[in-house]
Amino acid sequence: MLTSLAALLLCGNLFAAEPPVIDVATDDLSLVLRVSPQGEVLFDHFGGRIETAESFADYKNYRRSDYGTDPEAYPTMGGRNFREPALRVTHADGDLNTELRYVSHTQRTLADKNVSETVVRMKDARLPLEVELVYTAYARENVITTHAVIRNGEKGDVVLHNFYSSALPIRARSYLLTHLHGAWAKECQAEHTLLTHGAKSIESRKEVRTTHTENPAFMLTLDSESFDENYGEVIAGALAWSGNFRLNFEIDEFDMLTVLAGANPYASEYTLRRGESFTTPEMIYTYSFAGAGGASRNLHDWARNYGTWAKTHMVPTLLNSWEGAYFDFDAKTLTDMVDDAAAMGLEMFVLDDGWFGNKYPRDNARAGLGDWEVNAKKLPEGIDYIASYAHSKGLKFGIWIEPEMVNPDSELAEKHPDWVVKAPGREVPTMRQQWLLDLSNPAVQDFVFGVFDRTMGLSKQIDYIKWDANRHAESIGSKYLSADRQTHFWIDYAQGFYKVLERIRAKYPDVMIQACASGGGRVEYGALGHFDEVWTSDNTEALSRARIQYGTSLFYPATVMGSHVSATPNHQTGNITPIKFRFDMACAGRLGMELQPKKMTEAERAFARKAIENYKGYRDIVAEGDLYRIGTPYDESGAYAVLYVSKDRKRAVLFTYCIRYQGRTGLPEFRLRGLDPAARYAVRELNVEKSRCWFHGKTLGGDFLMQAGVNPKLEKIYDSCVFLLEASGN
Ligand code: GLA
Repeated sequence: MLTSLAALLLCGNLFAAEPPVIDVATDDLSLVLRVSPQGEVLFDHFGGRIETAESFADYKNYRRSDYGTDPEAYPTMGGRNFREPALRVTHADGDLNTELRYVSHTQRTLADKNVSETVVRMKDARLPLEVELVYTAYARENVITTHAVIRNGEKGDVVLHNFYSSALPIRARSYLLTHLHGAWAKECQAEHTLLTHGAKSIESRKEVRTTHTENPAFMLTLDSESFDENYGEVIAGALAWSGNFRLNFEIDEFDMLTVLAGANPYASEYTLRRGESFTTPEMIYTYSFAGAGGASRNLHDWARNYGTWAKTHMVPTLLNSWEGAYFDFDAKTLTDMVDDAAAMGLEMFVLDDGWFGNKYPRDNARAGLGDWEVNAKKLPEGIDYIASYAHSKGLKFGIWIEPEMVNPDSELAEKHPDWVVKAPGREVPTMRQQWLLDLSNPAVQDFVFGVFDRTMGLSKQIDYIKWDANRHAESIGSKYLSADRQTHFWIDYAQGFYKVLERIRAKYPDVMIQACASGGGRVEYGALGHFDEVWTSDNTEALSRARIQYGTSLFYPATVMGSHVSATPNHQTGNITPIKFRFDMACAGRLGMELQPKKMTEAERAFARKAIENYKGYRDIVAEGDLYRIGTPYDESGAYAVLYVSKDRKRAVLFTYCIRYQGRTGLPEFRLRGLDPAARYAVRELNVEKSRCWFHGKTLGGDFLMQAGVNPKLEKIYDSCVFLLEASGN
């Protein structure tokens, strides 16, 4: 009694005398926390840089305390917090309340001087449950990432119900939420919603292929009811987590918005034994004063400097065998494809699904998954033969695997029924005729690592792995987890996935790996920390891609965006688009092709050759430059553009598209952004024999291009023009 009173008095004195203000700063942003006289860690500010953050020391918000707690850095259930808590716990003694109090904090600059780390330590007012909030600030990119570590120091088990990565309270007049939704073959569709009082959540309960439907990323435009590419204050956030996630947006009676982001609490009670700790996924935030475009550019810079395995290195141009051959090939089919790819100037050949399985040959999607031996009938020559052939033609070589999955018709399913995700006594429904393997089980993790490792062992010439995952988790149940730990499945699966990837990256740091999950099912920064790129969508049709790539670009850089030119009529949509439109769309990301080159006409091959050559000349701008979206593919005008400007502003590449006929009076005009107004740019149209645009071949001022703009002749649907801009005389 005496001790706790003394401690209380000490705390009271300490904080009353000099409440610590904790300033987490980047070049242009501040995130400010403050310790209240009672020891709560309050969240005061996230936005523009405040050099005098200590001004918050005496800040008073004049709230009536009976309406709820002040905005906290990590709100809990307990005390007077009525909002959805970031942390909700049942303590060892059954107490449902947690009241976190400041213990200490440290701030340090990391070896990379651009990065600083702030750790705030807190403890429950009554019980030895500890929470650390870790904020990592990336100065130049103006990105702050954060996660929490929850430690059980209590005498028995503690059950975590909510364990979000972060809470972000925001105060503005209005909050326009922009997020991505979709489905297979229409991923990353942008949607804008003006938030109202109450709560809205964006979440996944599918565990695998989470980002087909919702993406764990968002933008909030503050104080404006319209989304703007160039102007206004925008907060963007993205969660690095490959499992179930939840973003919760709640506006309370003070008109404040609290954003909670993290692993989804849905059916995920997580028990911590005494002494155990739980580390949440990383949440990534930025804030921009230059609209959505500014927020995207900050995230792209962060992704390329820190957040993706590939950094600025883009996967080479490639031909993928899937849509060109599906399951039907032999070595000759593949070596012919290599020859054709080489002739068009492509730099890699990727052998997709269908190369494995003997007892249960993988001749269709019904059999063979799990049995990762080369199909001796289809490819008696082995993988090394194809890989070496590709290398001999100057191409790199890649191969497809789907190691987390098993077909019921497979030797693996016969041997290891216990590895399948399945609740006891219940049917396991198949999806794409397959089951999910239980990655919460370390033996399965070893197996999955082994699939990758053995595949790499098939040839010394494997440069790239396409890692696929073609189903969700459902009717979950793990034979590995005990009956009272079944709710751990969702977290343990995702963590098991990361454990495997960490082992893979320790052994194979240089092999390029694509995250495919029936197309864009794993488009998020948790996967991207280990993968070089994503397969943006199984929908390769250029018109659909306009929206898919636009949405993806809001949060993810072009370096990770696999974009392939495929055949017409398109295999997903049946749509017929000109080859130029298909190339001009795919060239705005990581260009590839996915078709049977033998079915192309000579004119199409010639066009492809030239477009690929052009792409190689400017792809460094796509990979490393700043992205400016001009208009959107949702605009009534039907015309929009994508502009990449090199960091030194000396070169730029502009992609312009018409995706809807607008009659004869719709005359598209694009004001460019991000150029040097004082520079003069030589403008050259690419991917065309004879330009129809008056400004092709002209040298125009940066000021002209930005103030007046350009008006390419985009008259009909599928018209597209690509321009290279090069500053002269510097
Ligand atoms: C998934 C992928 C495709 C292709 C097939 C192969 O659908 O998204 O790109 O690899 O599997 O079965």
